[in-house]
Amino acid sequence: GAGWPGLIEAYRDRVDIPDGARVVTLQEGNTPLVAAPHLSELTGCTVYLKVEGANPTGSFKDRGMTVAITHSLAEGSKAVICASTGNTSASAAAYAARAGLTSAVLVPQGKIALGKLAQAVVHGAKILQVQGNFDDCLELARKTAAEHPVTLVNSVNPVRLEGQKTASFEICDVLGRAPDVHCLPVGNAGNITAYWKGYTEYHGDGLVEQLPRMFGFQAAGAAPLVHGHPVAEPETVATAIRVGSPASWENAVKAKDASGGLFSAVTDEEILSAYRTLASREGVFVEPASASSVAGLLATAADGRLPTGSTVVCTVTGNGLKDPDTALAGMVEVEPLPVDPGAVASALELR
Ligand code: F0G
Repeated sequence: GAGWPGLIEAYRDRVDIPDGARVVTLQEGNTPLVAAPHLSELTGCTVYLKVEGANPTGSFKDRGMTVAITHSLAEGSKAVICASTGNTSASAAAYAARAGLTSAVLVPQGKIALGKLAQAVVHGAKILQVQGNFDDCLELARKTAAEHPVTLVNSVNPVRLEGQKTASFEICDVLGRAPDVHCLPVGNAGNITAYWKGYTEYHGDGLVEQLPRMFGFQAAGAAPLVHGHPVAEPETVATAIRVGSPASWENAVKAKDASGGLFSAVTDEEILSAYRTLASREGVFVEPASASSVAGLLATAADGRLPTGSTVVCTVTGNGLKDPDTALAGMVEVEPLPVDPGAVASALELR
């Protein structure tokens, strides 16, 4: 390909792949760090959005998947498997297709957004809808991979996090420093683990002077890290983070504690309000789970936990087009117009 080579090539010295491996890439990474003037004004901070929906399959999962599928192929694997709330399965399906591998995805029946299901279908994944939640799917995927010749590409596979940590490098490279605070949605807790790894590596090598505080936000109905115990029946409009028993629990707690950060819950109402604000005021369309980082930004600015004047990065993890149903809910049906300029003008109240 031309231009940006994808994150394995871009950060070759920091992302290990097997010697001689064929790099499986869709030129993921290098996503925009977009200034957010409206959110900055609301919070009294300097706020940026790391727009991960700009990745090839529309979410940050591509960062981990380029590395996981590169490893799988190099190891001679013929098939990969994952559990997913939708984005991991979309990404695994696309990268497996690119590599010529078979993919199987286990998803909670009826609980993944339409666009994500469409992606798994067109990329040719074997889709297994499970009568259970994400946590059940992950357990099934782990057992299957342990007993059969298929490679597990969930973030419990540590190479996934090696790819995902590059988002921190990109932020530091663009800002010339680490932010004071980094806000993230948290589901299975791989991403907050990966970001913290990225920041600490850059800091350890003297490339940035300071580390950010990691603020992790969970949906109120699926907030095991906030409560300190698993949630048996997680529920939220943000289906991507509908996770009751995060696999990277301990590493997420380490990232929070070592950085002087916090975990906090945001309600579905707060998530949807942030979702609409992002779209209508910043021009950035994200999926509901992604808006939880911004819902958390607004809540912690309001209650004083976010210091005024901070430089803040909110990762918005997935593209709004993934979930058209949520976008269209509440749309008012209007009568179609005749082909008549007068009808247009009066419908727009221009006279
Ligand atoms: N945002 C989106 C859009 C996600 O899809 C996910 C996770 C997260 C945030 C949370 O990241 O799990 O690393 O804490 N989605 C997984 C999936 C569970 O299957 O696609 P995390």
